Formats: sequence, structure tokens, C-alpha cells
Amino acid sequence: MLVDGFGRVAIDLRVSLTDKCNLRCSYCMPAEGLEWLPSVDVLTDDEVVRLVAVAVREGVTEVRFTGGEPLLRRGLVDIVARVKALPAEPETSLTTNGIGLAKVAPALADAGLDRVNVSLDTLRPERFQLIARRDRLDQVFEGLAGAVAAGLAPVKVNAVLVRGVNDDEATSLLGWAVAEGYHLRFIEQMPLDAQHGWSRDQMVTAEEILSQLAERFVLTPVGSAERGSAPAEEWWVDGGPARVGVIASVTRPFCGACDRVRLTADGQLRNCLFAREESDLRSAMRAGASDEDLAERMRVAMFGKRAGHGIDDPGFLQPSRPMSAIGG
Ligand code: 5AD
Ligand code: SF4
Repeated sequence: MLVDGFGRVAIDLRVSLTDKCNLRCSYCMPAEGLEWLPSVDVLTDDEVVRLVAVAVREGVTEVRFTGGEPLLRRGLVDIVARVKALPAEPETSLTTNGIGLAKVAPALADAGLDRVNVSLDTLRPERFQLIARRDRLDQVFEGLAGAVAAGLAPVKVNAVLVRGVNDDEATSLLGWAVAEGYHLRFIEQMPLDAQHGWSRDQMVTAEEILSQLAERFVLTPVGSAERGSAPAEEWWVDGGPARVGVIASVTRPFCGACDRVRLTADGQLRNCLFAREESDLRSAMRAGASDEDLAERMRVAMFGKRAGHGIDDPGFLQPSRPMSAIGG
């Protein structure tokens, strides 16, 4: 098992399949993009599947594919199929910006993908252009519809509110999601942007989002029994069955219940989004490590997991890699 020094057990593996992206969201990347990982450093499909298989043998039951933008990974469908075919049959999901999803959703569903989360922060094209720096909103809508058509429903939509751009859009996003049958979750912006532009006083808080939503909807808390260990606090919208989630990573951290571990596209295991150290599984694997050696490295790396992200600590240092390189 992947247990840390505080007794938390990691069962949810986030696998970044590429650090590249076709958008440039302001809270993630600079307009000019980043220096991408050299392709020799990026794990091959076989290497990804091998490390996932080792983690699954160590007790991981859920595998989420992320990026960057995972749909840019050529072998994605094959990787999903091979992970789904592992004897333990882990749950599989994908976090994507939705661009190009309409086309591959049927193949992903056939490969056994269980769920998809699509990131969408605004319903207005001019705002999408401001946040993502590309004019692709229509393709995201197509992607969402394509996912539903392929049977990947219920689709979750993740939204980040950005001060001065879309911070007045909480109610319209929720009205839209309820009408379309998407499960909307708002995520507080975290200090994970490559430009280091995050500031606590600019961040749109969960409290602010909830007070906006309360102007138009009646929200009642979803009981923890129905919610499980998920980081999103959930509310029924107008009595249900629609619900809305708020992931208050900054103002109401849930590190104490964290069950996640991350693998970067270049094969580094991270015990936390905000970890300052990584365990280099790629080099070990390429130097001939056995599955048991790799499992032992995973266990050691997890054991050193810190109690929390420490965003509010005076000595907090943002991780040296941005979200796109770590995997959301
Ligand atoms: N803070 C919060 N969420 C972020 N995401 C990307 N960068 C940040 C950040 N700095 C979100 C994306 C996507 C998911 C992978 O993480 O919007 O939904
Ligand atoms: Fe791409 Fe996601 Fe970063 Fe936006 S947040 S630039 S979609 S990786």
C-alpha cells in the first residue's frame, strides 16, 4: 500500500500524459507557452502502463489521466484500454479542456474510460479568449456534447473564476450546467501558474462563489455519506437532483483526507501537487529496476508526504513546476 507518515493511503493516481497544451489559461501558463519537456524524457506508452500497473498493485483503485492536455497524447486511447484491462480493473477518468473530445469520445468510451471532467470557465467567447488566449469555446461545447453522446455522462465541468474576468459568472455557469445536465464544480485558484502571478487577495473564494450562487439558487448541503472522500463540498441545487461542487483547496484545505498521488509525464512521482521533491521513477525504470524496486520507490516517496500544502505558511514556496507539468 502507498501509506504516508500520517496514515493516509493513496488510492487515486493522477497521471500526466503530456505537459503540452493547446490553450494558454492565464492561471496556468504564460501567453507564449512554456519550454516543453524533451520528448526523450517523456514516458513511452509502455512505461506509463507499467508504472500504473505497479501503482495499481500497490492499492491504487482510480487512475485519472491529465496533462497539460491529455487529448494531445497520441497513445491516449490505447493507454486507457491497457490500464482498464489490468486485473484490478481500476476506475479511469480524464481531465481535459474538451478541445477535440467530440472526435475521440466514442473510442475512449470503447476503451473503457469511466468518466470525463471538462474544464470550462466561461460561456462567453470574448471571455474565453481572455482567459484561455484562444478562440476555441465552440469546440469545448462540441466536446461536451460529444462526451454525452458517447455515453460518458454524467460529465463534470470544472470552472476557475478569475478576478475581473469571469468572477460574475458563477450563477450563469450553474444555470447552464443544470439545464444541460452537467455536474459543475468551482475550483479555487491555486498558486500553480508558471508566471507566479497568483495572489491570495485576488483569488475568488469559495465563500464568495457560494454567496453569488445563493442569489439565484437554493443550496442545501449534500451529506458526506453521498459525497465520499471527494475534495468537493457539494450542494443540491433547488432541492436536486442537480448538484454543484466547490473545491476550496485554499480556504478550506482537505489535505488531511488526501488520497492522491501524481505521476508526471516525465515519470516523476509526486506525493502532493505542492511537493518540493519528486521520485525519479523514469531513471530507475530505464536503469533496469524491477517492478518490486519501483513499488518500493513509490512507497518510500509516499511516506515522506507532508501534512498539508502550507499555502498560508509564511515560508510557502510555489512548486518549481507549474500545474501543466504536474498534472491537475
Ligand atoms: N488553480 C486551480 N485550478 C487550476 N487548473 C489549472 N491551473 C489551476 C490553478 N492554478 C485547473 C484547470 C483544470 C484542472 C486540470 O485544473 O482549470 O480544470
Ligand atoms: Fe491547458 Fe489546462 Fe493549463 Fe488551461 S489550465 S492552459 S487547458 S493545461
